[in-house]
Amino acid sequence: MANATWVKVAPISKLPEGKMLGIEIGDLEIAVYHVDGQYYATENVCTHALALLTDGILDGDVVECPLHAGCFNVKTGAGMGDPITEDLRTYRVRVESDTIEVEIPAAS
Ligand code: FES
Repeated sequence: MANATWVKVAPISKLPEGKMLGIEIGDLEIAVYHVDGQYYATENVCTHALALLTDGILDGDVVECPLHAGCFNVKTGAGMGDPITEDLRTYRVRVESDTIEVEIPAAS
């Protein structure tokens, strides 16, 4: 099995505390968040329908979808009730030389 890959996504200066950033890596739409001094990443497409969470609102560690106001915890990807029935996939994040990197699992 091939190893996962760490992909550089942005300098830390592009993602201040309390903000989120949408990125594309290949076919993946990923949202990166800066919350409570840490960086987190989830898939960016809402699990309810077709909307990008980075077009919504980040309030603390909760992102609200712009389409039907479904909410997710960005630290865990957990959906927080109606209309969300499926959690978000999460990705590991690290900072190397002031650059945010996201771990992309190898395709199976
Ligand atoms: S598309 Fe996100 S809550 Fe409906």
